[in-house]
Parts: sequence; C-alpha cells; structure tokens
Amino acid sequence: MLTSIKNNHLKYESQKLGMMYFRVALILFGAQLLMGLIAAIQFLYPEFLYGLFDFSVARMVHINALVVWMLYAMIGAVYYMLPDETGIEAVGIGLGKLAFWVLTAAVAVVVLVYIFIQIGPGKESTIWFINEGREYIEAPRWADIGIVVVVLIFYYNVFFTFMKGRKTGIMTVMVANLLALAGLYLAGMFFTDNISMDQYWWWWVIHLWVEATWEVFVGTLAAYALIKILDAKREIVEMWLWIEVLMLFGSGILGLGHHYFWIGTPEYWWEIGALFSALEPVPLVAMFVHVLYDWGKEQGAHGDKPAIKNGPAMAWIATNAFGNFLGAGIWGFFHTLPQVNIYTHGTQFTAAHGHLAFFGAYATILIGMMYLGVQGAYGVERMKATFKSKMAIFLITFGVLGMTVALTIAGYEQVLVERAELGGGWDAFFTAQALPWMKQAMAWRTIMGVVTFIGFVYLVLDLLTIGKESQKNS
Ligand code: HEM
Ligand code: HEM
Ligand SMILES: [Fe+2]
Repeated sequence: MLTSIKNNHLKYESQKLGMMYFRVALILFGAQLLMGLIAAIQFLYPEFLYGLFDFSVARMVHINALVVWMLYAMIGAVYYMLPDETGIEAVGIGLGKLAFWVLTAAVAVVVLVYIFIQIGPGKESTIWFINEGREYIEAPRWADIGIVVVVLIFYYNVFFTFMKGRKTGIMTVMVANLLALAGLYLAGMFFTDNISMDQYWWWWVIHLWVEATWEVFVGTLAAYALIKILDAKREIVEMWLWIEVLMLFGSGILGLGHHYFWIGTPEYWWEIGALFSALEPVPLVAMFVHVLYDWGKEQGAHGDKPAIKNGPAMAWIATNAFGNFLGAGIWGFFHTLPQVNIYTHGTQFTAAHGHLAFFGAYATILIGMMYLGVQGAYGVERMKATFKSKMAIFLITFGVLGMTVALTIAGYEQVLVERAELGGGWDAFFTAQALPWMKQAMAWRTIMGVVTFIGFVYLVLDLLTIGKESQKNS
C-alpha cells in the first residue's frame, strides 16, 4: 500500500488520490481503536489516566475518529472508482489534491486541540475554536466551515467528471446521493441553546447519514465491487441497486422518528418512528441477498475456474452483507419500538448496536475497497488472501462480535435491574453499574477489544505487503 505511491499501475491520478485517502483512513482507524481501548480500561479502572487523559476525551476522540476515518475511506473509494466508471480522469485533480492536504492538516489540528484542551469554560469562542459538543461531529466551527469547502471541491470533481464522462447507473446514484449526504452535514452546524431543538437537528446528520445516505453509498460500493471482483453483470447489479435505493430511503428517512420518542418532540413520532424504522431491516435483507446471490451465481457460471479476482475484498464484502443485516437490521430492530426503547434507551444495549452496526455496515466494506485499491495499485490480475488477510478478518470480526455480545449482556442487565426493577434514576444507574454482570461484561469487552486490535495490526501488515506478494506469485 505504501509503495503504491511510486511503483504504480494506476492509470489515473484520481485513483492515486483515492489511495492517499485510504492511507489516512487506516491511521485514523488505528487511533480510534487505541482510544476505545483506553476508554474500555477506564470503565474497569476509573482512575486510569484520570486528569491526564479523561474518559470524556478518549470516548470523544474514539467516535470522532470513527466518523472521520470512514469519511476519508468513502472519499477515497469515490476517487478510486470515479475514473473507472466514467472512463475519464477527474476534472479538477490538482484542486482535489490540495483539498486532501488542507483537510488532513485541519484534522491533525482538531485532534491535537481535543487532546490538549480537555476542560475549561464553555464560551462562544469554545464552539468556534475547541469543540462544538455534538456527539460524533464535535469539530469546532472553523473546521466545520473548512470541511464544507473541502467537500465542495470534492463534489465539484465528482459532479463535473460525471457530466463529462460515461454515465453509469452506479455513478448516477452516487452523484445524487452524495449531494444529500454532504448537504445533511449543514444540519449539524446551527447553534441553538434549546437542547431539544439541537438534538432534533443533530439526528438529521447522524441518523440520515447512517440509515439513509451512507447505506445507499454502501449499495453503490457493493455494486461496483461485485462487478470488479466477480465480473457480475452490470444490468443485474444496477437493477438491485435501484430497488435498494427505493427501500432504503422509503424506510430510513421517516425511520428518523425512532430518535424522537423522548427528546421533547410531538408524540406522533412514536407511531411514525415505530412503523418506518421497523421497516428498515427490509432493504438490509435485500442487500444481503443481493451480494450472496451474485456471488453464488458468478461462482457457478465460472465452472471450475474461481470467479473471485480479489479474495480478501470479497471476504470483507460478504462480511458486510452479514454485518449490515445483523448489526443494523437485527440489533437495530431489537430496540426500535418505543415499547422496548423506553427500557433500552441509552443503555449499553445501544452501544452494542452502535458497535456491530458501524462495523458491520461500514468498516467491512470500506476495508474491502482498500483491498481493491491495493490490487489496482500493484496491477495484479488475481489477488488471493494471505495468512495475514485471514488473521485480520477473523480476529477483527471475532473481536467486534465478542464486544457486541458483552455489551448486549450489560445492556440486558441494565434493562432488568436499572430500568424494570428499580425504575431508572440516579441510584438505580449506580446500583446496576456495580453488579458483577456489568463488571464482567466490561472486562470481556476490553479483552475482545484487544483481540480486535491485534486483528487490526494484521490488517495493516497485510495491506502493506499483499500487493508485492501477489505480484511475485503471479
Ligand atoms: C448501519 C446502520 C446503523 C448504524 C451505523 C447505527 C448506529 C447507531 C448508533 C451509533 C446509535 C447510538 C447513537 C447515540 O450515540 O445516541 C444508534 C441508535 C439507535 N439505532 Fe441505530 N444504527 C444503524 C441502523 C439502525 C437500524 C436499521 C435501526 C432500526 C431498525 C436502528 C435503531 C436504532 C435506535 C432505536 C437507536 C436509539 C437507541 C437509544 O434509544 O438509545 N439503527 N444507532
Ligand atoms: C478496540 C476495540 C474497541 C473498544 C475497546 C471500544 C470501546 C468503546 C468504549 C469504551 C466506548 C464508550 C461507551 C460508553 O460510553 O458507554 C465506545 C463507544 C463507541 N464505539 Fe467503540 N470500541 C472499539 C472499537 C470500535 C469499533 C471497531 C467501532 C465501529 C466500527 C466502534 C464504534 C463505537 C461507537 C459507535 C460508540 C458510541 C456508542 C454509543 O454511544 O452508543 N468502536 N467504544
Ligand atoms: Fe436511527
């Protein structure tokens, strides 16, 4: 992956830029995991790094790094597939490269500020220079505005390259969806001192990203990847994509209501949220069937010859189909009805769902795209999984599943003891936190976090070496 900068088989500058985004994404992914480990240890030993690196900071950097690495990998994936799909170089590649460096410098400054300025008064200047205080998208306002400029440059590149080049169905969906995805970011930039209103708009970014626009984005990636890896038929893949888009937006947009049960929004959201969010798993089943169906069909069509041109990418995309369905679909459905959510709201159950969904729906397929990028950069016809690829996918997936099980048990305990038996409230919370079920679950989460991290080390080593190894073997 590193040498792919110089020793390069990629025809287009846009694809090289995509690889640069992938590299930063991987570094931020590592930072995310380290922060998660610190936060997990602090659950067990609250005095660990207290005063030096508080839980609030570790947790914040953990989830902000998560969002930022995914956005980096998404931009990388788009720059990678853009010339492939349109048949031409990105129109403003120089500007695109400049935007990459500006964004990366800004991210570095924001992270340093998060780490070094941990406490202090909350003033108007805090929002501008230190932290905006909106979970997952905490970047201060100067960075927000910078992000908007960088994204405008990115979108300019995507849109005008699309207009000038070949117009495939995949790119049509991509161009329309990216406009919605980028536009939603603006909903998280307003200031209001009413917490209900603030949450109301904040969910437009968070929910309408992960349960509408990001899911459609994943649909376009899966479609593109299936064509690249399996030579799947474009007409069939694109037909699936349109159906998925319809279902994802049809359920995901009003599914937003499942966050409006208890924040001061009108009560009609109970019904709207319950109905539409309960439908959200349906498109996830469709995406699951789509990937496995195309895989099986192409495999069969090839007879004895293997259909798969990129083993690790295909493994990650199949994991995506399962993970999206399980983490978002099943774990999401568990707590999406208000009758259930009144007990589970804000417990470790939510964290269980958050981990499996973000991992299953997004981390997996974005890692798959990185493997596709490496294959392209080294110009290998057929890239087989190595020992390291297998260790990486096994340990990361096993680790995240293990964390999810531990958190689900912790959440179950909170529902029974804190909510059902003790009726919620301050004392109830601390009673539930002190019980062995919670303590053991937190210990297992940490152990499984370490497993995940070891898998990540394998992943990095593999991405750095698999290209060269495949060149030698072919
Ligand atoms: C890939 C898609 C998804 C991702 C990445 C995701 C992620 C998350 C995360 C991180 C939270 C916690 C937010 C917070 O910090 O408060 C959350 C909350 C929630 N999610 Fe999802 N989710 C996804 C899909 C779904 C689906 C399809 C459903 C329903 C079928 C669902 C139902 C919920 C509900 C009800 C909550 C609120 C939990 C509470 O009351 O504490 N999610 N989701
Ligand atoms: C080394 C592995 C990891 C460890 C030890 C870890 C640990 C943690 C901890 C301690 C929290 C704070 C939970 C709380 O406030 O109760 C957290 C939150 C979160 N983590 Fe991780 N994490 C890890 C990996 C991941 C991965 C791979 C993802 C997704 C791809 C992820 C996504 C999240 C999300 C979305 C939240 C917020 C959940 C919520 O508020 O409901 N984490 N993590
Ligand atoms: Fe949601």
